[in-house]
Amino acid sequence: MTKPNNIGILAIDVYFPKTYVAQEDLEKFDGVSAGKYTVGLGQTNMAFCGDREDIYSLCLNAVNNLMVKYDVDPHSVGRLEVGTETVIDKAKSIKTVLMDLFASSGNTSIDGIDTINACYGGTSALHNAVQWIESTYWDGRNAIVVAGDIAVYEKGPARPTGGAGVVAMLIGPNAPITFDSGLRGVHMENVYDFYKPDMESEYPRVDGKLSISCYLRAIDNCYSRYRSQFEKKFGQPFDLSKVDYAVFHSPYNKLVQKSFGRMLYNDFLKNPTDEKFKTLESYRQLKPEDTYFNSDLEKALLSLTKETYANKVAPSTALAKQLGNTYCGSTYSGLLSLFSEKRDELVGKRVLTFSYGSGLSASAFSFKVDKSIEEIVEKVDLKNRLESRQRVTPEEFTAKLSLREQRHNLKNYTPSDCTSTLFPGSFFLKQVDNVGRRQYDRTYMTSSRSISITRVVAATGLRYVKLL
Ligand code: ACO
Repeated sequence: MTKPNNIGILAIDVYFPKTYVAQEDLEKFDGVSAGKYTVGLGQTNMAFCGDREDIYSLCLNAVNNLMVKYDVDPHSVGRLEVGTETVIDKAKSIKTVLMDLFASSGNTSIDGIDTINACYGGTSALHNAVQWIESTYWDGRNAIVVAGDIAVYEKGPARPTGGAGVVAMLIGPNAPITFDSGLRGVHMENVYDFYKPDMESEYPRVDGKLSISCYLRAIDNCYSRYRSQFEKKFGQPFDLSKVDYAVFHSPYNKLVQKSFGRMLYNDFLKNPTDEKFKTLESYRQLKPEDTYFNSDLEKALLSLTKETYANKVAPSTALAKQLGNTYCGSTYSGLLSLFSEKRDELVGKRVLTFSYGSGLSASAFSFKVDKSIEEIVEKVDLKNRLESRQRVTPEEFTAKLSLREQRHNLKNYTPSDCTSTLFPGSFFLKQVDNVGRRQYDRTYMTSSRSISITRVVAATGLRYVKLL
């Protein structure tokens, strides 16, 4: 086997629920001051699921759509790995459920299972896939990486930072978007900032402020380690000027704005006498722990990065503002937003990527866009799909989350939500039997894509059913 070159993203797609709640409506409903969620958190809308969708159906949709849109031959896949923290079974992996999509092809030789650590599982799965292709175990086939979650919080300040969505990526050699090989700044430690010890609840325990300081500390460490590797590899100094675009894990947009400023702060600490940092001089001697919530420093950094944020970061923020936090999918929804926004302007450009999962695990790494990505942008069709969603009231949103609370861990039930709240052709949860086994069906497919989708439907043995 010849050594694979230019390993990276061959194809990518995202699945998100059809229903969303507007953050401006939520502000009124929650009785908080106008602008708290839309300006204070920087969010626009939040996607959510009722009881017809679970993490299995979301992943089935994401992988199925990827395979249909890009006409992926089921035999060409040798690895499939899922990164998520939405766990509904303590033993059976989501990956095994996704094997239904390959059943009729007879391809059962697909390595990989699920990877779990808060919002970082998708990144770990992606790194695994790349390393598999680089290894002696690689057999010439491509890998699929699935990254995403249903992010829900109990009533309170964290609730507007929920979201839902799953990204699926086809990884292989000779890709248009390639990894900067050998460049990965990693930071991991043991901390209880966000965790899910309660199996009887879908909601996490979260210490919001602690999670923010952990996130920023992880940026400091990952960024400086990435910088050292970059300087070693390319033999030239690294700072933000070497980055054409930056993509961040996005719990909410305001934190992304602050995070980009944080990277500039790291540049300043490395080169404190540089004239362009003169407004930061008074923050030079601060201990790191005195900087995470220092609002004067934040303002100074936001002001210094205003223009570069607009050029280098804002183009990757559309999906995260529209869907909310998709946890494991968040970083890759950022990448997809960037592709959709900048299209072939990205050719020849470097994208620095920061992925964070509470608990905590984080890394900074980078991609280069080597070839045209127009085909990806056309196939994903992000703008039209986002526009075809359905806005519901905060009352309905709250009722759906209450319904999910009742359904959590329940057995022997048929979901009650109307399937007309799902996109045409979507997998949905049909039933959970008395020992917890789940069955799925699909909504009726009305578009012309129904013909090309037939192959995969046949693979799953599922039929289309008319909208209920
Ligand atoms: N207009 C404009 N801005 C406003 C308004 C208003 N009317 N009201 C408040 N704000 C601003 C605040 O000043 C604050 O800004 P700042 O961050 O620049 O200081 C911001 O809105 C948030 O308001 P707070 O009162 O500080 O925070 P709150 O108590 O509402 O909680 C938090 C926010 C901690 C992010 C909460 O939503 C949470 O716990 N989320 C889940 C945890 C999380 O996402 N952590 C991030 C990394 S880990 C992960 O990915 C899960």
